[in-house]
Amino acid sequence: MSKKHTAIVLAAGKGSRMQSAVPKQYLELCGKPVLYYSLAAFEESFVDEIILVTGKDDISYCKEQIVERYGFQKVTKIIVGGAERYLSVYQGLLAAEEADYIYIHDGARPFVDAAILSDAKACVEQYQACVAGMPVKDTIKIVDAEDFAKETPERKYVWQVQTPQVFSYALVREAYDMLMEDQDAYSVTDDAMVVETMLNYPVKLFQASYKNIKITTPEDLQIAELFVQR
Ligand code: CTP
Ligand code: MG
Repeated sequence: MSKKHTAIVLAAGKGSRMQSAVPKQYLELCGKPVLYYSLAAFEESFVDEIILVTGKDDISYCKEQIVERYGFQKVTKIIVGGAERYLSVYQGLLAAEEADYIYIHDGARPFVDAAILSDAKACVEQYQACVAGMPVKDTIKIVDAEDFAKETPERKYVWQVQTPQVFSYALVREAYDMLMEDQDAYSVTDDAMVVETMLNYPVKLFQASYKNIKITTPEDLQIAELFVQR
């Protein structure tokens, strides 16, 4: 039996750091919404199904102006997320029960591509838990509460983490079920952390691309426009 690969694309954030009235995943990037680009990458890939997670007021916009307008056949569900990213992920996991592998991706990260997805597939089939990332280019400092440098980790061991973050379904579901029982105890910023912390399971990093940026602040959108124009 072939395995089912399901993507959860997150688009339920408010984008406070972007400081725009429209959430960043819906801002226009060279004539199309930011969210279009990652959905297109999954649509054109080996992935079987896409679950789109959005805000309750944006369900019909997503359905009509994105999924129907661009003809995304693999988006089978458009569901309501939660107030925090991990809560949106959890709603996606609940909607993906038949999946064997889960690809959690930020809808605000438009440059995921076929190469990243096929590397992710190979990696998750081998390790069950893997995340896209890149070694940092700058030296990173750990600081204390007064911003004095405390530690300088060796650069070759420091990576910036991206999405997709990819897991076998049973593993990530177990980790998130555990998190949900004791949510207040943790401050969760990515999915790998949940698997690492809850299950103590080793998560493999694989090199994606320095282009696989997340639109977070206004200058990111300008950089993204240059990438699309190339
Ligand atoms: N996200 C989500 N549900 C949330 C929060 C975030 O689905 N409650 C999604 C965002 O839409 C985005 C991705 O998770 O695609 C990464 O989150 P981030 O870059 O932090 O986006 P926002 O939370 O929207 O932005 P900010 O933190 O600046 O408010
Ligand atoms: Mg956020």
